[in-house]
Amino acid sequence: GFDISKLRAQTGLVTLDNGFGNTAAYKSAITFVDGENGILRYRGYPIEQLAEHGSFIETAYLLINGELPTAEQLAEFRNEITQHTLLHEDVKRFYGGFPRDAHPMAMLSSVVSALSTFYQDSHNPFDPEQRHLSTVRLLAKLPTIAAYAYKKSVGHPFVYPRNDLGYVENFLRMTFAVPAEEYELNPVVVSALDKLLILHADHEQNCSTSTVRLVGSSQANQFASISAGISALWGPLHGGANQAVLEMLEKIKSDGGDVDAFIRKVKNREDGVKLMGFGHRVYKSFDPRAQIIKGAAHDVLSQLGKADELLDIALKLEEHALSDDFFVERKLYPNVDFYTGLIYRAMGFPTSMFTVLFALGRLPGWIAHWHEMIKDPGSRIGRPRQIYTGVEIRDYVALGDR
Ligand code: ACO
Repeated sequence: GFDISKLRAQTGLVTLDNGFGNTAAYKSAITFVDGENGILRYRGYPIEQLAEHGSFIETAYLLINGELPTAEQLAEFRNEITQHTLLHEDVKRFYGGFPRDAHPMAMLSSVVSALSTFYQDSHNPFDPEQRHLSTVRLLAKLPTIAAYAYKKSVGHPFVYPRNDLGYVENFLRMTFAVPAEEYELNPVVVSALDKLLILHADHEQNCSTSTVRLVGSSQANQFASISAGISALWGPLHGGANQAVLEMLEKIKSDGGDVDAFIRKVKNREDGVKLMGFGHRVYKSFDPRAQIIKGAAHDVLSQLGKADELLDIALKLEEHALSDDFFVERKLYPNVDFYTGLIYRAMGFPTSMFTVLFALGRLPGWIAHWHEMIKDPGSRIGRPRQIYTGVEIRDYVALGDR
């Protein structure tokens, strides 16, 4: 009983596009993705070049400001970020209120949202100076917030930021250093993590970025908008996939390492099992990030001397899937999350921190989209339409008569 003419009379023409598969919600000059050919460019620069030659902070500057910084601009940007890495002492109390086994993504989104109570100057998104200040605060404080979430989970004291260190170095130290013990930064880990953050830095209108834009379109402040993005990223079909991949590999291992049996399960859709880390809404030939990360996984694991049985299982899964019609017909290839978990694990991060690392990487992309949206004079509040499928009309029935 679906009468399209009635609907048109009610609402004008409405298109129904499940999951926004074909509907562009925005114009954007930030990131270009060509899913058929596996191309990803930030502001026109190929991801391969940025990952090889760039740094994460330089990439953040590029995404947010539109151009690569000069040496002077980069030094100034780094310096500004460095000035804001500390959290207000009262922010630490939030961690005391969370249960010890709280998921760090929940802590991350809550504490970022809470920052808007400490920086109420952020509440006017139309003041360019305040916009910039909120951006610097977010970039500077998210690693501290993330490291504290980890410290909370292991019951260790917080390690304060050290501002003579670089962005990634500082984060690693705040995460892994233990007071009164020496902590030595491993250059292999620093460089691999910097590269991984670059690869995650933006991906146009993915679920979390669209969320940031949607929340921001109501003119909510930057902290509130980014906090919503963190929540969207958490789900296993989005950023949470890196955690889900590792859990999947561990399960296959504990079940005896039978990759064929697992692939059969996926194909038969037993218990809704998916090959996590495979498939992408946009990439239909390969995910260029996954190719770079696969190489990095080999390098990092061999340089850290951490042979990992799970890497062998992952390689076998990929090999089997890429030669199986089920996956080939559906154009399912490894995505950015398939190999990242193995690298994070080798670096010493627990599985629950994997999606937090994704959030650290994606932050500049979220911020760049927030700025683009708020500065666009034609920007309107995001408000999707719907096709109503409920009861047309009925009379209220008194409580006693139901
Ligand atoms: N394992 C098994 N089958 C899959 C998988 C998978 N990983 N991904 C898609 N399919 C199947 C679907 O069941 C569907 O089959 P059908 O046509 O027979 O019904 C077909 O392939 C098309 O998939 P859709 O679900 O329509 O693809 P969509 O674009 O909606 O979803 C998504 C993309 C969410 C990434 C999906 O591929 C998936 O769930 N992958 C696993 C989770 C994952 O790795 N997410 C990370 C994505 S990347 C990122 O966020 C950074």
